[in-house]
Amino acid sequence: MTRKVRPLEWDGEKLTLIDQRKLPHEEVFLSYTDVEGVHSSIKDMVVRGAPLIGFTALYGMVLALKNLKSPSLKEMVKAGEFLKTARPTAVNLAYEVDRALDLMKDYFEKESHEDLLKRLISFSNDQMELLKQNNLSMAKYAFDELKSIYGDKKLNLMTLCNTGFLACGPMGTALGVIEYAHEQGFVNHVYASETRPYLQGGRLTAYELTVNGIPHSVTVEGAFSYLMKNQLVDAIFIGADRIVKNGDTANKVGSSTLAIVAKHYGVPFYTVAPTSTFDLSLETGAEIEIELRPEEEVLGAMGQRICPRESRALNPSFDVTDHEHLSGIICENGLIKNITPENVVKTVEGE
Ligand code: MRU
Repeated sequence: MTRKVRPLEWDGEKLTLIDQRKLPHEEVFLSYTDVEGVHSSIKDMVVRGAPLIGFTALYGMVLALKNLKSPSLKEMVKAGEFLKTARPTAVNLAYEVDRALDLMKDYFEKESHEDLLKRLISFSNDQMELLKQNNLSMAKYAFDELKSIYGDKKLNLMTLCNTGFLACGPMGTALGVIEYAHEQGFVNHVYASETRPYLQGGRLTAYELTVNGIPHSVTVEGAFSYLMKNQLVDAIFIGADRIVKNGDTANKVGSSTLAIVAKHYGVPFYTVAPTSTFDLSLETGAEIEIELRPEEEVLGAMGQRICPRESRALNPSFDVTDHEHLSGIICENGLIKNITPENVVKTVEGE
């Protein structure tokens, strides 16, 4: 199966998501008509990836509003708080719910239920297109940076987890950078880290690279040092689930290890994320809540038990890369190379 599927579709009545747990070998679409269903789609990882989780939550708010017999702001706040509990680390979830609530607050008293619903639907529909434009800007900033370091050399790039269209809608963030560099003819090879235990790299990134005809190899997380020591990688791009004021970045577990190894061997390492992934209310990464997922995900693979029945597991889904280990942070407003709280705030606020 090698075609660019749409990960999320709203048809005016229901939200349809591709079940990302089944990719790449099966295309299963699941539809949702209430906020409870949308909550479980995020929690159970039918849908994942920070931006797409945010968009899914927006349609969760649409469904909440649609299903209310006599809409009240209190009920909408309740629905928003419920959605926010689905997964804690990706800030895009809370960000989009709060934007939906802000819109509600502005128009609740002034508009009919029908008009309010139309307004929220049109707001939600616009967001994916907006992200596509932002992601293209990020890809261009990253490309300029690569050219300034490597000139016309064809590059070997690396990524971890999945940050392509399955995680973002039309265009990816870190994987968007790689696709853009490939379109410009500057990619020799891509290494996709498989990303245990959920295998977003091996299943989803490898699938997206295949769809885009980009030569690639999947590696295990244990190969980080081998890759860098043998100079197989020129630059690394990862996404983010939450970037705080000092630049510390939460992303899929393994990101921090990759950044430390990259720094040791002098390989440029960037995080690429839209401004909606920044949380300027937190000062440092120590304040980020890291999601702990079920032990079974680590004790087996693809539904098959691997470890002894007696074994326990620890399954942090994310880790925090200290800003000192990043060569730069790229968002739609630019590339931050000197990562200080002042520069992060200035860039995110577009000054
Ligand atoms: O657990 P997931 O699959 O939701 O984790 C996703 C990641 O860590 C991504 O790298 C991140 O959300 C950025 S998506 C553009």
